[in-house]
Amino acid sequence: MKIAIGSDHVGIEFKPIIIDYLKELGHEVEDFGAYSSERTDYPIYGKKVAEEVVSGNFDCGILICGTGVGISIAANKVKGIRAVVCSEPYSAKLSKEHNNTNILAFGSRVIGPELAKMIVKEWLDAKFEGGRHENRVKMIGQIEK
Ligand code: RB5
Repeated sequence: MKIAIGSDHVGIEFKPIIIDYLKELGHEVEDFGAYSSERTDYPIYGKKVAEEVVSGNFDCGILICGTGVGISIAANKVKGIRAVVCSEPYSAKLSKEHNNTNILAFGSRVIGPELAKMIVKEWLDAKFEGGRHENRVKMIGQIEK
């Protein structure tokens, strides 16, 4: 898969670990910043990665900030984005199967790298189930209109 990744300055040290892991799994990854630990603002990267995903340039996105909250809220303001912030793999898996999430976020101040990798793997491996969930996801889209 083609995966867009972004973080603010708080997620910057965590990001290369996730990039390496994604590459190990055989994915293509592009980093949309931040590129240094200089203080910056998470909405910039949430928006950028979200736009890359809705435009179809990337299959999905991964976002990291201190809690994963701010950057996922920013991403969710972009039409067509369903971003989930997760601290455990169960929600990550179900968010794909039931909600067809297209961005996964997590907090570098909340979880460690090994748990983050497990969450990423569950999320990437999961498939949207459609069926009874299809119309609910459509209903979310209608809220954006
Ligand atoms: C930055 O201090 C911090 O607020 C940010 O990384 C994130 O946790 C926001 O939700």
